[in-house]
Amino acid sequence: MKNIDPCTLVFFGAGGNLSRKKLIPALFHLEMLSRLPQQLVILGCDIAQYDPEVWLDFVRGILREKHGDKIDEAALQRFCARLHYFAVPVGDDAAYARLQTLIDEDPRFPPNVMYYMAVRPADYPGIVEKLGNVGLLKQKNGWRRVVIEKPFGYDLLSAQTLQASLYRHLDEPQIYRIDHYLGKGTVQNVMVFRFANLLLEPLWNHHYIDHVQITHSETLGVENRGDYYEGAGALRDMIQSHLMQLLALVAMEPPVSMAAEHLRDEKVKVLRAIRPITQNAVHAHAFRGQYASGTIDGKTVPSYLEEKNIAQDSTTETYAAMKLFVDNWRWAGVPFYLRTGKRMAENSSAICIRFKSPPQDLMRHTRQGPPPPNWIMLGIQPDDCMRMEMQVKVPGLDVRTRTISLDATYRKDGDEEFDAYEGLLLDVIMDDHSLFLRIDEVEAAWRVVDPVLKVWAMEREFINTYPAGTWGPRGTYRLFDREDQFWRHSLDLEGAKLEAY
Ligand SMILES: NC(=O)c1ccc[n+]([C@@H]2O[C@H](COP(=O)([O-])OP(=O)(O)OC[C@H]3O[C@@H](n4cnc5c(N)ncnc54)[C@H](OP(=O)(O)O)[C@@H]3O)[C@@H](O)[C@H]2O)c1
Repeated sequence: MKNIDPCTLVFFGAGGNLSRKKLIPALFHLEMLSRLPQQLVILGCDIAQYDPEVWLDFVRGILREKHGDKIDEAALQRFCARLHYFAVPVGDDAAYARLQTLIDEDPRFPPNVMYYMAVRPADYPGIVEKLGNVGLLKQKNGWRRVVIEKPFGYDLLSAQTLQASLYRHLDEPQIYRIDHYLGKGTVQNVMVFRFANLLLEPLWNHHYIDHVQITHSETLGVENRGDYYEGAGALRDMIQSHLMQLLALVAMEPPVSMAAEHLRDEKVKVLRAIRPITQNAVHAHAFRGQYASGTIDGKTVPSYLEEKNIAQDSTTETYAAMKLFVDNWRWAGVPFYLRTGKRMAENSSAICIRFKSPPQDLMRHTRQGPPPPNWIMLGIQPDDCMRMEMQVKVPGLDVRTRTISLDATYRKDGDEEFDAYEGLLLDVIMDDHSLFLRIDEVEAAWRVVDPVLKVWAMEREFINTYPAGTWGPRGTYRLFDREDQFWRHSLDLEGAKLEAY
């Protein structure tokens, strides 16, 4: 393992949802595995004033709730010994000068500092500005790195404005734009699958691939994040970031090496090759919907409009689907269908790649109906898996064919489970940008969705609805290029429902 620098991890928004749900548990799991640098000090910053003991109790409470009686007490003690708290109350700008004194002069805090912005997006620039003004971003005795949570901007223009505010105090290598989706094992496995196996490379192009589907569906609604979601919607929340990154990994050319800049160069080339959607083509390339009430796991759930902090006439989309084309030599004419939704029938994130049919249907006499195509499927969540569907002969005297699913799931019982944030936090400490977004990637992704966002923002009169617990609104079939293309809802052979909608 690479040597890890001693460092101070300062996280803003220490009392917030992301910290409670993800960051504190991720850091503690790394502690349990002895993967944290020995000299890592964690300084939580939030608006509220906490006495040090109250802060420790808050953290212990989160971890005890998660681990119950099985908590590793020794690790908990080690973890608590790293923890400090510093309040930055609203309006108290002198707090940042005190923070500077603490970090730069108190020997308990190593001079390499990682700042994690676990705050609402509107707060990123203000905090960076204040840190910059008191000299806390200057790399004098050690490195200074800033992790920016998603979303990075609201559209292209706001992303560029945010970027300009960061560049006043930071250089690009100091910035880590996080997309925690990229920290998931299966997402990284897309690269292993493609670049460590020669077998697939000759097939990975428009000659053999009919189309690609990338889906992220959730059964959850907006929960208590209605105010955030109202301003975001499914296209911004999932497609511009996570799904576009998956598309880039599936479609990119092999990089010169796995070094961060080589990888990011290739991803950005793909994103730039996506055919721009003109305003009058938006309806042919994008579809939106909003969940109505329905049934999930046997329980009736309310519609989006009945959720907390949602405007009564909201046309914010909770479902978005897009058809994109990557206009380069490899992918000419292959549609990439992306879709995401809340309150859908299942929790599922997957990439499904459908192959073309053989040039001659020599086995026509062995079955009824059209030839079943080959599929390669990469499941991301809830199950990490890789499957390939092929045709084989049914045993017996007659020549009949059936589809089998080859399962190359890489997870085995007993394999250690990691949350995406764990690896990503270590990557920042180790200065590895591979799984973080460079600004040109972010801009390229906004360029793809901006025209759709503009048209949808103007069309506030009507939005299609779908009952909660289903696979989305009716009518999305008009995105498909041909009548034999359908949404694939399940990775299982038996459950594989193909629906046009
Ligand atoms: N929650 C998730 O699962 C999730 C997942 C992916 C990405 N994210 C991203 O992570 C970020 C944080 O989300 P969240 O859900 O954790 O938000 P949140 O629950 O609202 O937490 C933000 C916390 O930051 C505090 N805060 C506000 N201004 C601050 C400042 N200047 N300095 C220090 N602390 C400050 C807030 O205090 P007050 O409440 O008192 O204002 C609150 O405790 C967002 O950018 C979000 O998009 C969240």
